[in-house]
This record gives sequence, C-alpha cells and structure tokens, in this order.
Amino acid sequence: MHINPYLFILPRSPGQIVWNYKNHTQHELDLNYVSRLAQLINKPDLFDTDNIIDIQLLNADILTVSKIDTPEWGWDELSKIYHIGTQNIPCEHIPQNIHEWARQYLAHCNEVLATPPPANDCPQLEPEQRIALPAPCALGNDSLKSALLKRKTCRSYTGAAMTLNDVGTLLYLSLGYLHEREQDCDDSIATGLGARRSSPSGGGLNACEGFLLARNVVDLERGIYAYHPVDHSLSRVNSLPEPALGQLLGGQHFINNLPLGLFITARFDRLWWKYEHSRAYRMAFVEAGHLSQTFQLVATALGLNTWLTGAFADRQVEALLNLEGSAEQPLFFVGCGESDGQVMCSEMRELLREGQA
Ligand SMILES: Cc1cc2nc3c(=O)[nH]c(=O)nc-3n(C[C@H](O)[C@H](O)[C@H](O)COP(=O)(O)O)c2cc1C
Repeated sequence: MHINPYLFILPRSPGQIVWNYKNHTQHELDLNYVSRLAQLINKPDLFDTDNIIDIQLLNADILTVSKIDTPEWGWDELSKIYHIGTQNIPCEHIPQNIHEWARQYLAHCNEVLATPPPANDCPQLEPEQRIALPAPCALGNDSLKSALLKRKTCRSYTGAAMTLNDVGTLLYLSLGYLHEREQDCDDSIATGLGARRSSPSGGGLNACEGFLLARNVVDLERGIYAYHPVDHSLSRVNSLPEPALGQLLGGQHFINNLPLGLFITARFDRLWWKYEHSRAYRMAFVEAGHLSQTFQLVATALGLNTWLTGAFADRQVEALLNLEGSAEQPLFFVGCGESDGQVMCSEMRELLREGQA
C-alpha cells in the first residue's frame, strides 16, 4: 500500500483536514482516523483489509494500491501544491457552445454585481490636494502611443485569414531573439544568457516560450507549432484541438474562429537552474504577462484586435502542446485577428438587449 503523494494535512481542531490538491478533494479526519493514518504513513505495510478505517482511507484515495509517480519539481512543496492545486479546476458545467457561454457568463456577472464591491479603505485626498500631472506627450513617431491607446480586448472575430508576414512580425517582435541586439553585449552578461527579446526576462533566462495556434494563416497548414526564437522558425507539434478551441479555454466559444493564438509556456527547469527559491515561480507569470502585452501591442499596431485568457483546461492544453509530464508548463493564452471591434460577441449583446426589452 502507498500514501498518495498529492496530499497535505491541515491541523483543524479537533481533527485534521487531508487535502488532495491534485484531485481537489478534502476529508476531515477525527482522532481515530488521524491516528490510524499516522500509523500507515509510518508503515504502509500495516494496511489491513479487515480494518474499516483502512478501507475508507483507500476509497478516499488517501492510500493507493500502486505507487503514484510525481513529476520533477525543483522548488519547494508549497509552490508545487499551489501550481498543481490550481490546475484542472473542476467546473460544474463548461459551456458547450456560445449561447450557453453567454447565458452562464451573464448570470455570473449579475450575481457578482448584486453584491457590493470591496470598499476602498485608503483615505482619498480631496481633488484639490492632489498633484495634477502633465498630459502625455508625443512618443517619437507615435506608433507606440497609438497601439497603447487602441489595444482592447475584443470578443467578436471575423475569422479572416492572417498573412504569414504578420505572423513572422508578431512572433519576432514578441518572442524572437533580436538580431538587432546581438552587438549590444556587455562583459558582465554570462555566456549563454546573452539572447535578448523585446520584453524583459527574469534572470535573462528567457524561461518563457511560445506555441502558435494557427487556424487561418495563408500558406501555413492549420495546427499547433513550437516557435524557435533562436532562428525565428516554427516546427509543427500537433493538429488543432477537437472540439473547438473555446471548449479548452473555459467554454469561451466566442473565440472559436480566432485565426491565430499563442500559448505562452514557462520552462520551470530553466528557472530552477538559476533560482532555487520558489519566489521565482511568481516571476514566470510576470514574464508571461510582459510577453502577452507585447504580443497585443504588436498585433494592435498591425491593425488586429486581441483577446487573452488564463482560463484553460491544463491537462488538455499540455496534451495539445505535447508537454505532458514536462517541466515546461502552459501559463497563458493570447490571440489576435480581424474583429468588428466589439467587446462582446453578438450572442451576448443579443441577451443583453433581451434583458432590457
Ligand atoms: C490576466 C488576465 C486574464 C484575462 N482573462 C480573460 C478571459 O478569460 N476571458 C476574457 O474574455 N477576457 C479576459 N481578460 C481580459 C479582461 O477582461 C480585459 O482586459 C478587461 O475587461 C479590460 O478590457 P480591455 O482589455 O479592453 O482594456 C483577461 C485579462 C487579464 C489581464
């Protein structure tokens, strides 16, 4: 008999909570169960099929018949519990189509908005006590300012094809190792950490990577591709997901016809190599955020609209990217395409109109 490796135990008098952070289940144990579990942790061979507590612990998956292997993890248990414990969150019902999504999301928003927002506890200065700042000035040729002002999250796409040139521009300017910066080297930069992107990278490790989802790109077969920043190229890793992408992304079916997307992943092993403390885990997400924003600004400058999410079915996305059991983990998704510029899909707008009628 084995002890499930995905457990942590919380003391909660008078008993203990045994939390399976992979399956998202919790069991409250009283002293009898706690004592027996402590004995079995000490000596799993004491497992006795005639002992009702042992059988219940087995049925609760606290004990397992075969040994469960766990993937390598280079930081502490706390970050491992957090990472695995926030994956594959059970959802009562994932919307199966855009109408279900719109109804469910609207009901959720109405429920949230029916409760008061968190109070603002900081004392607010009177307007006349505040220091007024100058308005923003022009930035060079102003394309950056224009992209910043135009970027918006859109949830209504035409599905129109994108050109391979635009894809090359997007990937090079957001994820590529910039040739233009190759001469800009400094003696203080360690060998092997000299590659530079347009976004900053924790420790210069470029721990984040990108997987392209190409659904409608001229001269590029539909599929999932790994992007190689060293030589600015793609290699095919999989077909497009079945059923549609929105099913994988929290049932958000309004993006099913998005022509292009990017899954941003992080190579935790690269971070483990340089940073032992699990605080580096936070940095992976911060870096992904930088890359996501850069991608959105470049897409906006190309005249496209953008969408983003961190809500996805981790297990399915890992399988899609061929990363199962790997130290490289998907963190975020950002996509772009031609849009009518609407914040909401027409199905949601329709529901809102019905509500007002
Ligand atoms: C971390 C993060 C996660 C987000 N996740 C979603 C999402 O799952 N679905 C969605 O439609 N929008 C998502 N958004 C977009 C926000 O809803 C959007 O940024 C916000 O409403 C402000 O609108 P704007 O981006 O047009 O300025 C996300 C944004 C961020 C920064």
